[in-house]
Amino acid sequence: MAFARGNLTHPVAFEHDGETVLAERGEPLAVALLAADRLLLARSPKLHRPRGPSCLRGACDGCLARVDGVPNVMTCLRPARGGEQVETQNVLGSRGADLLRAADFLFPHGVDHHRLMAGVRGLGAVTQAFARRVAGLGRLPEEAAAALPVEHLEVDVLIVGGGRAGLGAARQLEGRRVALVDDGVRLGGSLAALQPARAAETVDALRRLGVRLLEHHTVAGLYPLEGTSGVLALVVGEERTLELRARRVLLATGAHDAPPPFGNNDLPGVLSARALLGLLRAGVRLEGKLALVGEGPYAEQLAALVPEPQRWRVALDAVVEARGLGRVRALVAREGERRVRRRLAVVAVDAPPSPALELAVQLGARASFEPAHGYTLERDARGLAAPGVYLAGSVSLRGGAKLSGEEVARALLMDA
Ligand code: FES
Repeated sequence: MAFARGNLTHPVAFEHDGETVLAERGEPLAVALLAADRLLLARSPKLHRPRGPSCLRGACDGCLARVDGVPNVMTCLRPARGGEQVETQNVLGSRGADLLRAADFLFPHGVDHHRLMAGVRGLGAVTQAFARRVAGLGRLPEEAAAALPVEHLEVDVLIVGGGRAGLGAARQLEGRRVALVDDGVRLGGSLAALQPARAAETVDALRRLGVRLLEHHTVAGLYPLEGTSGVLALVVGEERTLELRARRVLLATGAHDAPPPFGNNDLPGVLSARALLGLLRAGVRLEGKLALVGEGPYAEQLAALVPEPQRWRVALDAVVEARGLGRVRALVAREGERRVRRRLAVVAVDAPPSPALELAVQLGARASFEPAHGYTLERDARGLAAPGVYLAGSVSLRGGAKLSGEEVARALLMDA
């Protein structure tokens, strides 16, 4: 067993593949599923490898499920309200025994469905039908979604990202019309994992200041407004869509957890250290043994929370592979000349992250490769990456340095 949890304060119940799971009201469905020790939630397209939540921030697709008849819902971004029907999608059989998993054994180097049996009379059509069945991701929704009402909003500054940098920038912009959008169920991002009390205080302060806080909303698109340095944002929530016009945009979209560089890094139970820290902060108990891989602020806090006999600290470059079938059961690592295999239930990895640069690039920012850091965004010392577009926090990483939300907000005020 990897995880368990004690009594809940505001319990609600939902169904997962026909079985009842309890959740704390409002927490992500994926957190409740992990707390119930359900690590395997999905199957990858094509090879049908077992998948589970890894990032808990909407960036890895290990938590996709069909929820209330809608396919491909990221359950780490869906709050539990009670009564949901969560179903595993994309399987023939069950999530634990998916017959389509045979694709991984039959095609260990991948399926090239463009060439496989192509041109062979009779077999080509059968192969294509099979490939479509294997490669798909769920069935279409049972009914078309109703159109959402549209709200029009104009602000001085749109902040995208509700972590440390985004919240800090919003505080600095007191007196301006500010909207802050974050796709997480709750605001705080990595600050909520590292310093939960500070994150909660800052969010409360922003509410009192009248900042328009749009948690659990996604920025689906950002478009430069022609002839100005303003931006048009399409923001989608569960109950409404916003057409939001902003004179400036400050992107604090953070960073993606790097895929761990070892074999079977996609096994359920291999989590980012940030995700595991967030789980423990949410009251989930770690029951099994932990391999804590790599170094960084999340690994340091996890090392303090999980005592030595329950954890094995491993350097990132020492890990050879994770092992297990439907979930991780062991880790193999080099110790000097030897290879050591240890049984465990969870692997948490703190590896150098990569800036979440997608929205900035959409607005014309340029990404280029830095050998020591990977792809980062070109910006000036104030955080300006394109007309009217500022970067703060981890997404501003350039030349090994980041800018805080507060300093970028001050620069933005001077430019405005
Ligand atoms: S996308 Fe949900 S856990 Fe990564």
